[in-house]
Amino acid sequence: MLPKFFALLLFVSLNALAASPAELLAGYTAQSGQPANAAKGETFFKASHGQEWQCTSCHGKSPMTGGRHASTDKAIEPLAPAANAKRFTDSAKAEKWFRRNCKDVLARECTAAEKADVLAWLISVR
Ligand code: HEC
Repeated sequence: MLPKFFALLLFVSLNALAASPAELLAGYTAQSGQPANAAKGETFFKASHGQEWQCTSCHGKSPMTGGRHASTDKAIEPLAPAANAKRFTDSAKAEKWFRRNCKDVLARECTAAEKADVLAWLISVR
């Protein structure tokens, strides 16, 4: 009885970390309290926000093909789930990189609405 209970607990907590792009998008949309706008997300991703780097500096012009890190030149795999099935399947990973990358590009963290817009666009790219 008891071991089964712990096995179930472990299963549930491991499952809580895994997610789908649609689930992550639903989370950011709920946090922001407004519908996600893919067109705004595309503009945001490709725009300059007054700092040295833009999202495209490392992720490349197309989220279907990926890019190269602006300072280390390391290859970065495509961000669009259609081109890379591993994308946005781990909420902790997505959060960690949104935080870090937004600070580099905007000198602040992204809002939930900005994350929802970008993710809606990335999901829509085929
Ligand atoms: C200085 C280079 C750099 C810039 C600029 C940059 N990124 Fe990234 N980004 C990375 C690296 C490196 C990773 C982690 C490696 C990987 O996942 O391929 C990453 C990963 C991510 C992830 C994680 C996706 C997942 O797998 O869950 C998201 C989301 C992301 N970036 C969004 C953005 C957005 C939005 C911007 C613009 C605001 C941006 N990045 C700008 C380098 C950058």
